[in-house]
Amino acid sequence: MPTGEVVFSAAQIQERVRALAREINALLPEGIPHAVIALKGAVFFAVDLLREMDREVTIGFAAASSYGPNTDSAGEVRLRLDLLGEVRGRDVLLIEDILDTGLTLAALRGALRERRPASIRVCVLLDKPSRRKTRVSAEHVGFTVDERFLVGYGLDCGEAHRALPDIRAYSPEGEAASPGTEEGES
Ligand code: PRP
Repeated sequence: MPTGEVVFSAAQIQERVRALAREINALLPEGIPHAVIALKGAVFFAVDLLREMDREVTIGFAAASSYGPNTDSAGEVRLRLDLLGEVRGRDVLLIEDILDTGLTLAALRGALRERRPASIRVCVLLDKPSRRKTRVSAEHVGFTVDERFLVGYGLDCGEAHRALPDIRAYSPEGEAASPGTEEGES
């Protein structure tokens, strides 16, 4: 197990997730929203958030890859949307783990808008505004963070460290060989 300093403990994350769930429930229209979970990083966050929201939802998935197998953004976004579900006319809640350059969110918002939902709200656990390369923002933000590369609670480095219960600054010191990456994805 890695790595650097704990930036957000599991308890801090859960407290913030509970507050986000209340905030989102208060602002989402009544009815059954469609939650779109951005794979893979947002899976842990989305499960906790949707449980805390404690209301009927349908779910779909979008896969977005913008990173190579290291800590630098490749600046290119590939989307896979075959598990998105029916979005037309729905109140969509897009759930992302991190908003960094914004290129992924811009691409996802664009792809969702084309499908004519009734509304789109975006919830990100982490926002790194200093890294933005395009004008995009989220309606709901868990924590605003600095430029450090973070791992844990879904966030990876070369696919490692996603299952950490807390969020840590990535530190390569003492790092064992990474589990590696699948061909063509991060
Ligand atoms: C990460 C993260 C966001 C995106 C944010 O995904 O989950 O989707 O990068 O970066 P951006 O704002 O610079 O576009 P990644 O491509 O690493 O895939 P993963 O979720 O499978 O780890």
